[in-house]
Amino acid sequence: MSKDNLKGGAQAPLLGSKIQLKIEKLAVGGSGIARHDGMVIFVPLAAPDDEVLAEITLAKKNFAEARIVEVLKPGPSRRTPPCSYFLQGCGGCNWQHLTEDEQRRQKHQLVFETLKKFNPQVEFEYLPLKPSPRVLRYRNRIQPKAKGNRFGFFERHSHEILDIQDCLITEDALTTKFPEVRQWAVSKGANDLKKLEMYIADDESIRYGLITDEDDGVGFSQVNRFQNEDLLQTALSWAGDHEYSKVFDLYAGSGNFTFPLAKKYKSAHIYGVELNPKLVDKARTQIRDKKLTYFLSDVESYMRRAVIGTNDLVVLDPPRAGASEYIMRALAAARPRKIIYISCHPVSLARDLQWFFDWTQKLGLRAHLDRVQAFEMFPQTDHVETIAELRVDS
Ligand SMILES: C[S@@+](CC[C@H](N)C(=O)[O-])C[C@H]1O[C@@H](n2cnc3c(N)ncnc32)[C@H](O)[C@@H]1O
Repeated sequence: MSKDNLKGGAQAPLLGSKIQLKIEKLAVGGSGIARHDGMVIFVPLAAPDDEVLAEITLAKKNFAEARIVEVLKPGPSRRTPPCSYFLQGCGGCNWQHLTEDEQRRQKHQLVFETLKKFNPQVEFEYLPLKPSPRVLRYRNRIQPKAKGNRFGFFERHSHEILDIQDCLITEDALTTKFPEVRQWAVSKGANDLKKLEMYIADDESIRYGLITDEDDGVGFSQVNRFQNEDLLQTALSWAGDHEYSKVFDLYAGSGNFTFPLAKKYKSAHIYGVELNPKLVDKARTQIRDKKLTYFLSDVESYMRRAVIGTNDLVVLDPPRAGASEYIMRALAAARPRKIIYISCHPVSLARDLQWFFDWTQKLGLRAHLDRVQAFEMFPQTDHVETIAELRVDS
């Protein structure tokens, strides 16, 4: 359930009032959902079946939000969070209070429900969620903040920095550098907020620097390398052993999928399309294959001139906002042999698939969503990765 499309009719409880709630389930975005006099109330940091005393913090016409004042009776999947900073209000994670099993169960269910809500008629094989090999110490890139002598992450819903010495979801190689980076950040000027980026580079060295208006740091890289490998192998395996004529990797980043695709589909021409010049430069320095071309372009502009044929493969891995109606329509009209859509937001994936199915129908074509699988890429948070395989009858 998302907050935008709730039915009205119920009375919102008063702002600041305290009420008892029972959490029914969790929503996209990570909050618990409870009902009070017919009104849906979103409760952050709740667990399914929790009974809580909660204070109303936002009262809208169609929904309200509340913060937990006291957990009166914990649900069966509530646990003591492994990281002490979670209880101090660190804004980095929002699901540490849930057992790993519950986190996975919720993600699996939320992806399915979201896809079905937007595409009720579409049938698909829904494979079990792939758990992450690591649930802690998995992040290889983080963006801490520093101000004065504080170094850490923003507190929840705030621009105050919670000072930290460690981060349990970050790889050891990075957290052992915290004292050095803290000192470096202080030396850069203590009074202004410093946004930093720390990451493990391809050669395993530790890099860090400032994020500024002119320099957005790395741009993008997969943060969970342990799970990325499985995602990549799944994408290659779903793409199959067919001899494609062309392979398009849209939203290619620095080539996470592009280079393995080029290695697998040796006779095909491979096209990577990416908007961030830094990522394109990084990819271009690694190109050894005349059949691989990398375009610095917005995907929508690229699609206006791309010639995609019925013997081609399209892989797309857009940011959280998803693709666009134009792109999904162009893909529907092009009828590539296979489309592998990798998504980090179930709502934008579900919406893009709806556009795809609507447009194939309008064009008199029949589309299939052959299989879908959720991937646990970001344990301890509500974020989830999903891979979907699409096809249009020729
Ligand atoms: C989720 S990342 C995936 C990157 C790559 N596939 C990977 O696995 O590392 C999405 C990428 O799309 C790029 N991007 C965002 N908007 C774009 C657009 N309109 N056109 C092209 N690339 C875009 C971002 O810079 C980012 O590299």
